[in-house]
Amino acid sequence: MTHKIEVVDRDEVVEAEDGQDILQALLHGGVEWMHACGGFCNCTTCRVKVEEGMENLSEMQEDEKNTLRRFQGEEVLEGPFRLSCQADVHGDIKISEPEWY
Ligand code: FES
Repeated sequence: MTHKIEVVDRDEVVEAEDGQDILQALLHGGVEWMHACGGFCNCTTCRVKVEEGMENLSEMQEDEKNTLRRFQGEEVLEGPFRLSCQADVHGDIKISEPEWY
């Protein structure tokens, strides 16, 4: 089963295998996306803003929470943000690149 990832601010759409993480699906689909630590939950350069379909992503685990907290502060956990290397896709989603750094 595949799902659709739409990158709304770039006008690009890629397919994700069920359970594939967002980052792998983006890279596989030819979309360039920063991932400084190589997908090991140790930076936040792969972050995405989830515009639609947050319920179609795997639940955030402690590792991802800790990394987001460490690099971006506690309040980022209240927003619609995920690390693309840690969020597995289980349905269609729409994402964009967050403006914060
Ligand atoms: S690539 Fe570094 S946390 Fe995802």
